[in-house]
Amino acid sequence: MSRARITLDRDFTVGEVPRRLFGSFVEHMGRCVYTGIYEPGHPEADENGFRQDVLKLVKELGATVIRYPGGNFVSGYNWEDGIGPRENRPRRLDGAWHTVETNAFGLHEFVDWSRQAGTEIMEAINLGTKGVEEARAIVEYSNHPGGTYWSDLRVKNGHKDPFDIKLWCLGNEMDGPWQIGHKTADEYGRLAQEAAKAMRYVDPSIELVACGSSKSAMPTFGEWEQTVLTHTYDEVDYVSLHAYYFEEEGDVGSFLASAVDTDFFIESVIATADAVRAKGKHKKHINLSFDEWNVWYQRGRDTEDQLRNIVKGPWREHPRVIEDHYNVTDAVVVGTLLNSLLRHGDRVKIANQAQLVNVIAPILSEENGPAWKQTIFHPFARMAELAKGQILRLSVDSDKYSNDRFGDTDLVDVSATWNEETGRVALFFANRGLEEAADVETALRGFDARQVVRAEVLEIPDGGDRFSINSQDQPGRVALKPLEGVKATGSELRLTLPALSWAVVELEVAKA
Ligand code: AHR
Repeated sequence: MSRARITLDRDFTVGEVPRRLFGSFVEHMGRCVYTGIYEPGHPEADENGFRQDVLKLVKELGATVIRYPGGNFVSGYNWEDGIGPRENRPRRLDGAWHTVETNAFGLHEFVDWSRQAGTEIMEAINLGTKGVEEARAIVEYSNHPGGTYWSDLRVKNGHKDPFDIKLWCLGNEMDGPWQIGHKTADEYGRLAQEAAKAMRYVDPSIELVACGSSKSAMPTFGEWEQTVLTHTYDEVDYVSLHAYYFEEEGDVGSFLASAVDTDFFIESVIATADAVRAKGKHKKHINLSFDEWNVWYQRGRDTEDQLRNIVKGPWREHPRVIEDHYNVTDAVVVGTLLNSLLRHGDRVKIANQAQLVNVIAPILSEENGPAWKQTIFHPFARMAELAKGQILRLSVDSDKYSNDRFGDTDLVDVSATWNEETGRVALFFANRGLEEAADVETALRGFDARQVVRAEVLEIPDGGDRFSINSQDQPGRVALKPLEGVKATGSELRLTLPALSWAVVELEVAKA
């Protein structure tokens, strides 16, 4: 059995939990939109074609803000193709995913769907093939009350009231050579600055995200952020980060330690943004929008073939692409990535798990069939539900294990929040130990624990292994179950985490 000793203190907080940390992402990619959230004719679809079975799971997942419509897709997208009478909308080739886009689903449909889902919209604009004119037009179309060309067109298309979209991404992954309309940092920085300015002239209340690096391993990482923020500092509020992790060649130890890279990435971007702030003598801070993150098996699973096949194959509508089936190990890693985001909640104000349905997603759905939860659904849903109030600063003294990529890494990973209004402390644990359970002792300084409200664990199911997944036939094989033996008395919490597990403990507390 390994051991970990954690100390938290009611007075030592990181900041308020940004609720936008529990965001997700809907891209026109594969089956995320078509046969994912939208499938007219499905037995569970409403009159808009919105699948209510999927929507129910989206609500249970608790996503707060959803980025749309891409991703790589947005860099070749004309947003005007997705408005107006459906029969007039053009069919287009989407070069990013080698797909025929019917445009049956567009901006109005996404706004209506978001209202049903109760989620905020984070709209990405095309700065690959488009520019300043289109950027300001979509803001006028979406947010201006009426009496102008674009706002009146919105009214004509059925939405009298403005959409009032606050959050906008200035393009997507513009540092990536794969991106349609890829740019150098100077080219993108200038364009983003001018687009941002023009968008704010239309609606000064909007918040803007500049593209950062597509991953920390990009050769331009660091320099890109520095150049882009030097151009855009006064115009934007956030800089973006994207990161995907997967188990390479059976190196599970490094995979389980992926959050070490997330920590490094976040802290490096904060340092770079603050250096630009100092050099430019700016007052405000630029915050971080981690608007694509997840486990994504880019190599070594059949989804790799799906990706290769669509690009080589014929042009099709909504092909099956990167539909990763997540196992127990992936769920534990997702729990640690969420911990990293939460621990940095003073600067990471937005985060979007990519994506929502079917495409590297917590929810899977079949055309004309059911929808179900993947393993990674569970840590996300519980954290979105319970991580409220203040993020607590933690001191962690955990036994370690060694892995190739990150060296010595804590076996136990944790984050915690305190909600003064409800008198609840929530702790989110992961045990990276593949063989050993972990004995965890937490000192709850400043708190007097009254009772354990909830203690749940996700672990290897009976008769399964770390590769166990949920499927259409066994949708509940990997799920949360009660974590037994959790003891909270006074200012001490004791529990044992099973090998390779993710767990949540919610306590009712009084101030000590
Ligand atoms: O989420 C899948 C893809 O990953 C997105 O389209 C792109 O932005 C990223 O490279």
